[in-house]
Parts: sequence; C-alpha cells; structure tokens
Amino acid sequence: MTRMYSFPADLCLESPRLQLRPMVPEDAEAWFAIMADPQVMRYWNHGPWQALAEAQAALAEDRNACAAGQMLKLGIYRRDNGELIGMTQLFNLDPTSRRGEIGYCLASTAQGRGFMDEALTCFIDYLAHGLHLRRLEAEIDPRNHGSARTLERQGFVLEGLLRQRWCVAGELSDSGLYGLLLDQAPLEG
Ligand SMILES: CC(C)(COP(=O)(O)OP(=O)(O)OC[C@H]1O[C@@H](n2cnc3c(N)ncnc32)[C@H](O)[C@@H]1OP(=O)(O)O)[C@@H](O)C(=O)NCCC(=O)NCCS
Repeated sequence: MTRMYSFPADLCLESPRLQLRPMVPEDAEAWFAIMADPQVMRYWNHGPWQALAEAQAALAEDRNACAAGQMLKLGIYRRDNGELIGMTQLFNLDPTSRRGEIGYCLASTAQGRGFMDEALTCFIDYLAHGLHLRRLEAEIDPRNHGSARTLERQGFVLEGLLRQRWCVAGELSDSGLYGLLLDQAPLEG
C-alpha cells in the first residue's frame, strides 16, 4: 500500500537555541532578505530573488505543498529573539522506499555559529523517528565546501558526482550527491 505523509500545520521542533516551524505570511520580508542575498544564493539552483512578491508566492506554494504532504519546509527561528534565520526542507519524497531529499540555508549573518548543525540534528531526528524515513539524500555544488562540511558533520557520505547537471544564469555546475542511511529497518512489502 502506498504510504502518504501528513505534516501537522502546527509542527514545531525545538533545539536548545532554535525552533523549526512552518513559515507564515508575516515572514515574507525576512524570508525575502535571506533569498535575495547573493552570498546565500551563490550555489542555489536559481539566482537571488529580486522582488518581495517572489517570497510571498513561494510561501503560499510551500504551504499548499506541505498541506498536500508533498514536502515539508520549516523556517529556522532563534528562540532568544524570534528572528527567522534560515530554512530546512524535505522534498522528493518516496514514501514506499521511505526516502527523501533535504535542503537548507542560513542567513549570512547567522553562519559560522553552529545553527545549521543544530537545526539539522533536530530536523533529521524528526525525519528518522517521527516520519520513519530510512534514507536521506542531498545534492550540492561540490564547490560549496561549507555545505559539504555541514552534510559530513551529520554523517552523510558522498555517493556520486553528476557532471554539468545545472545551468544557472548561464553557468554550468556539477552536483555532488550525498546519502545518509537512518536505520536498517526492513521495508514493508
Ligand atoms: C551551508 C550552510 C548552511 C553552512 O552554514 P554554517 O554556518 O557553516 O553551518 P553551521 O551553522 O552548522 O556552523 C558550523 C560552523 O560554525 C562553527 N561554530 C561556531 N560556533 C559553533 C557552535 N557553538 N557549535 C557548532 N559549531 C560552531 C563551526 O566550527 C563550523 O565552522 P566550520 O564549518 O568552519 O568548521 C551555509 O553556508 C549556507 O546557508 N549557505 C548558503 C546556502 C547554501 O549553500 N545551502 C546549501 C545548498 S545545497
């Protein structure tokens, strides 16, 4: 039987310094500021956003996809001041194989302080023990050394290289494919 995922609209994951929860329409300006920053977007699969309307539209689209169980995108908020500093997401879900792909970003002002490691530890714990996923994947530009370190800290292993997979703003780039096995529980028939 094909399994479907359903994500509670009030999902809130907590770690010592952070809360991970779905973004709301009021986050549009803060989310736009992150996704319009060329430093954050250097190795993304599209260029920096140019207009606030892109953030508003993306938030609405993400809410619908999340409600349909197709993906889970959570804002990363600091618990001390409530600031939105980034995002973690789960997408390309295959419920039968209990597999999904993750993505993430942090505002440039929040980098280098262990926030992403803390956020991913919490997020991956939910994916393993809340959703019972078995395998996670991540695709990064191999030149993105910070992102490679982030994945390796979480135990991901580089499993392959896809050459010239993307063309973003006229620039070709490779993809490093990473995988993490969460447990070896047998699959249901
Ligand atoms: C990839 C990305 C999330 C990594 O962010 P990051 O700040 O390096 O990761 P963390 O928040 O886990 O911080 C870890 C770094 O902070 C340091 N650090 C400082 N204080 C720390 C603390 N209290 N706890 C843990 N680490 C700490 C660590 O030593 C580490 O530095 P290092 O990588 O030089 O060894 C970030 O660079 C980013 O968002 N980039 C733009 C978007 C992007 O490329 N996303 C991925 C696309 S595939």
